[in-house]
Amino acid sequence: MTGLVPPRDAVLAAVEEAAYTDHVPVVGPLEGQVLYLIARLARARRVLEVGSATGYSAIWLARAARAQGGSLVGIELDARRQAEAERNLARAGLADTAQIIRGDAFEVLPTLTDQFDLIFIDLVRQLGDAERLRRLYELTFARLVVGGVLVIDNVLHGGEVVEPLSPGGRAADALNRLISTDRRLISVILTVRDGLTVALKVAE
Ligand SMILES: C[S@@+](CC[C@H](N)C(=O)[O-])C[C@H]1O[C@@H](n2cnc3c(N)ncnc32)[C@H](O)[C@@H]1O
Repeated sequence: MTGLVPPRDAVLAAVEEAAYTDHVPVVGPLEGQVLYLIARLARARRVLEVGSATGYSAIWLARAARAQGGSLVGIELDARRQAEAERNLARAGLADTAQIIRGDAFEVLPTLTDQFDLIFIDLVRQLGDAERLRRLYELTFARLVVGGVLVIDNVLHGGEVVEPLSPGGRAADALNRLISTDRRLISVILTVRDGLTVALKVAE
């Protein structure tokens, strides 16, 4: 399937290559294309990404937002990665479209006043704690418009959610159960890569 993703342009290919070399856990081309497609299908103008690393998925999503005349805000804890993400977005010609805030999502999210059409969470594996994931879910849910799309990566936790043993696996499992029973959303887990939750917010 990855072989069928259209070739990436030089900038995106370079960011992808550098991420693999430096062991930055990016979504990769197949999921990048899925994210881009979901954002385009949703006609998302205002996109929020939680966990931007060096800006790889942010480039995919910012390009989709730009196609609607919109923009992307990302949040990244690591200062070096945040600086690299800003550089990569500038190289991709997206400096005016995307901004990556350096900070802890738990501190940054409550300060945001904007509402978003699409929110992508990419730090399930980094948190690995059910209570923190639940809180992150509520914080992001509050920033999503009704009719907006929530996308969450790594919800299968390497397949461990089938029989969770580690705290991280149990946390991902708890998040999946929380979301699948939340009547404010219509959701499904796509078995793309490490599992991608896609959910439509239907009520506050
Ligand atoms: C899986 S990586 C993101 C990859 C990126 N979305 C991509 O595909 O290009 C997760 C990132 O979340 C960051 N992170 C971890 N905890 C965080 C927190 N509490 N707030 C914001 N970012 C955090 C990590 O530094 C890491 O770069």
